[in-house]
Amino acid sequence: MVGVLFVCLGNICRSPAAEGIFTDMVHQAGLQGRIHIDSAGTGDWHVGHAPDPRMIEAAGVRGIDLTPLRGRQVSAQDFHDFHYLLAMDKRNLSGLHSLAPQGLAERAQLFLNFAPEKRLMEVPDPYYGGPDGFEHVLDLVEAASTGLLNQIRTEHGL
Ligand code: 4NP
Repeated sequence: MVGVLFVCLGNICRSPAAEGIFTDMVHQAGLQGRIHIDSAGTGDWHVGHAPDPRMIEAAGVRGIDLTPLRGRQVSAQDFHDFHYLLAMDKRNLSGLHSLAPQGLAERAQLFLNFAPEKRLMEVPDPYYGGPDGFEHVLDLVEAASTGLLNQIRTEHGL
């Protein structure tokens, strides 16, 4: 199994959206038995919480159901359990780097490294903004998910 963990700050907006969208894409490719997907937050405020209702709504319009997901906090063990720990922004990436066990830090990288268009490096935090921010997150996540799946298929021969 190839492990993919999406990481943001709260695990209620960006990383659950990425988990939902990438899971849907992997199912459509028939690779659900080959790629293990999860999400987590660097912070602990929303452990056990459902995703933000605004993200549930915006993803639902695109046919992605985020309602079963629950927040959890990332841990050092995740570096052993996942090959790709994909941070939504640089703050999340530095949070991951401070947790990384010796020799495994390179498993953490910015998710938008996989986006076809290299203009943006970070998925902006939509938590304190309006509905446009949630749509923007979903657009960025969809584009980077396509690139990520292509890369995993190439690297792991799937
Ligand atoms: P996320 O958004 O990192 O995309 O889940 C946030 C959610 C909650 C908070 C910050 C960002 N918060 O401060 O509680």
